[in-house]
Amino acid sequence: MKKVMITGATSGIGEALVELYYQTGFSVIACGRNKGKLLQLKKRFSAIQCLQFDITQPEEVMQAAADVSKVDILLLNAGDCRYIDNAYHFDAGAFKHNISTNLLSVGDLLGSFLPKMDAGSRLVFISSIATQLPFPRAEAYGASKAGLDYLANSLRLDLKSVGVDVTLVHPGFVKTPLTHKNNFFMPFIVDAQMAAKRIYQGVQSRKDYVHFPRRFTYLLKLISLLPKSWWQRIIIKA
Ligand SMILES: NC(=O)c1ccc[n+]([C@@H]2O[C@H](COP(=O)([O-])OP(=O)(O)OC[C@H]3O[C@@H](n4cnc5c(N)ncnc54)[C@H](OP(=O)(O)O)[C@@H]3O)[C@@H](O)[C@H]2O)c1
Repeated sequence: MKKVMITGATSGIGEALVELYYQTGFSVIACGRNKGKLLQLKKRFSAIQCLQFDITQPEEVMQAAADVSKVDILLLNAGDCRYIDNAYHFDAGAFKHNISTNLLSVGDLLGSFLPKMDAGSRLVFISSIATQLPFPRAEAYGASKAGLDYLANSLRLDLKSVGVDVTLVHPGFVKTPLTHKNNFFMPFIVDAQMAAKRIYQGVQSRKDYVHFPRRFTYLLKLISLLPKSWWQRIIIKA
């Protein structure tokens, strides 16, 4: 039985991924901080293993790794988004929070869990299509995810020799508690089940890069090819 470990399993995309992988016969390790949600998951899917730890606390990550013998698919999905509401009076706390949760934590997770992954296994990074273009208020979130993109693409080269593959995922807007607080229009938003399905299919097809919904991600890619002054105007207006 293949073993998949999912961080951020207690909500949104991660929770939908737990359900999908469980239903398709994988052995699932669900990770998160929220004990109540982990207990609920254990009730729904009795055979799953739950690990409660904070990914930003290196000792907790190391302790969690002691309970895991092997991982075939490591889905690095946990993340958060705090906006920079006033760029001039820059919120260093929000910046640190995003970078620490979405990027620095991944270093500790890789340090502890990569040694449990053999040839033929796969690392999956849940980044964001936001890295395609700079968006207002997204300085901190975008920087953390752009760092994740580089990390994933660079690791793909270096891990070839040990046979560990890398998938980078760029979702567009997904209806989850993370986007619930957004008070702006989110074009082509999809639900968490659809997002999980697209990620699952991409990973099963051993894709290097997965992005969805395509009508949105291709539109952004197209806009990014326009002259800078054009796309800047479009983004600011939108
Ligand atoms: N929703 C979107 O539109 C969208 C678009 C592009 C990319 N993404 C990315 O997709 C991923 C999942 O997002 P989502 O929308 O599903 O968000 P969500 O519903 O808010 O879920 C976030 C998950 O991350 C976990 N998490 C956050 N901080 C953590 C920490 N310090 N330690 C351990 N776990 C932590 C949370 O677990 P606990 O609460 O149990 O700590 C929760 O399970 C994120 O990386 C996000 O950036 C989302």
